[in-house]
Amino acid sequence: MNFELASMSLGLMADDATDLLLVLVPDGFKPGRDRLSRLIGEAMKSQALETKAGKLLSAWRAPGVAAERLVLAGAGDGSAVQVRTAVSAAMAHVKSAACRRLTVAFAGPCAGGALRAAVLAVADGSYVYTTTKSKPEGRKVHDVVIAVAAADDALSESFRQSAALVCGIEWAKEWANRPANHATPRQLAEAALSLAKGKIACTVLGPKQVAKLGMGAFQAVAQGSQEPLRFIELRYDGAAKGEPPVVLVGKGITFDTGGISIKPAPEMDEMKFDMCGAASVLGVFRTLSELKPTINVVGLIPACENMPGGKAVKPGDVVTSMSGQTIEILNTDAEGRLVLCDALAYAARFKPRAVVDIATLTGACVIALGGVRSGLFSSSDALAAALLTAGESSLDLCWRLPLDDEYAEGLKSPFADVANVAGRAGGAVTAAKFLQRFASGLDWAHLDIAGTAWKGGAAKGATGRPVGLLVDYLLSVVKEQGARGSMPTKAGRSGRSTGTRSKGGL
Ligand code: BES
Ligand code: MN
Ligand code: ZN
Repeated sequence: MNFELASMSLGLMADDATDLLLVLVPDGFKPGRDRLSRLIGEAMKSQALETKAGKLLSAWRAPGVAAERLVLAGAGDGSAVQVRTAVSAAMAHVKSAACRRLTVAFAGPCAGGALRAAVLAVADGSYVYTTTKSKPEGRKVHDVVIAVAAADDALSESFRQSAALVCGIEWAKEWANRPANHATPRQLAEAALSLAKGKIACTVLGPKQVAKLGMGAFQAVAQGSQEPLRFIELRYDGAAKGEPPVVLVGKGITFDTGGISIKPAPEMDEMKFDMCGAASVLGVFRTLSELKPTINVVGLIPACENMPGGKAVKPGDVVTSMSGQTIEILNTDAEGRLVLCDALAYAARFKPRAVVDIATLTGACVIALGGVRSGLFSSSDALAAALLTAGESSLDLCWRLPLDDEYAEGLKSPFADVANVAGRAGGAVTAAKFLQRFASGLDWAHLDIAGTAWKGGAAKGATGRPVGLLVDYLLSVVKEQGARGSMPTKAGRSGRSTGTRSKGGL
């Protein structure tokens, strides 16, 4: 899908021979003297058009309007949230119509956040999954023009960011939506390797190398599956070599049956989404490849299936993690924390400025926060604040949950340093407490995206969250580094190799 930003008055928009002209009309809109403005003014006066966000009025070949179809949408106070509501409501219309070219026009003032909300809502509302369909219908909307009265430099930059974000979100959705037999650990690794060009490098480790690193917890989860595990390491080198990176760790369980502690059958298909954390990391790197910000980022993805079988790990088995800590695996369905704990131990190598893990970790988090906000846990108040702010500004919300040590009581084991589950109470928190043991000495945060990464039911599919939050956070780090006076690097600085494939052992 192509996006374009145009400076255009409402008067000119009326002459735009587009398939569908969507005009966002905020509260208190003062019509000018041109035809389209007058039409909107009259529609408001007659109360045919309400400016409450989500209200729509549509027409076919409206007089004096060159567009085939015209949709007037109330945009409320014109804020990012209300613009998102307005565009999402209108996209339902757009979906049913043959609409290749769409123009979204801001009738009132447009700030960067509202512009981003509009771009993202258009992309989201027109997204169609096609990969495993034999006769895909595909996406109807191809060209989108966002029309504002005056596209200044700040708006142009917001627009550039929004378009890059759409690429990342759609990349995340694509990999998350693919069935587990079309998104195996090996295929995820291939996807990551395909991103390795320019400032992005990728290394993939297989079972032998992972064994050598001592990742006994990760290995234990993978051992029940015929599909070999992969440990994916992505690096984006956008800043000076000495600048400590942000490390993103994505849970990459390509299918979670629960293992020997097998899950019940209903909705088990949705456990193909158990790699949405990994997909969000891939999505962020896709966006970084477009945006090229001045920052260093590392992405780590432990990818494997969680399967029952003759070789599967059994309840009560004790394994040794990369950190040296032994773990009693009481429930093989609590596998996410097992793959993550080894990736967190590995993350320490990078002497990171922050480590954020992203995981569809607990059903308990779905019960606690539903699909609106992701669960946020952090040992650092500053990091938590930065992620909360990023969530608010990107409309990809999260909510901080506690990490009191008392929550770790239930993780005690008579046979190992720690057990992988506690009781049912506070399940999202006890999972985070488990992870925290492996992030000691790091500025660490954990995002539990079990409720937000995908939707079930009739509209089943990945949301692309929390790519928006993460990109917003990374850009806030860029700003902060800039304020500290760190220098951007020259392109192609060290000519270091990219796209490295590891030799042997896979
Ligand atoms: N992938 C699941 C978490 C999950 C479940 C996400 C349902 C979204 C919807 C995770 O691996 C898991 O199975 N967690 C268990 C932990 C329990 C055994 C302590 C859970 O939440 O039931
Ligand atoms: Mn599980
Ligand atoms: Zn899982």
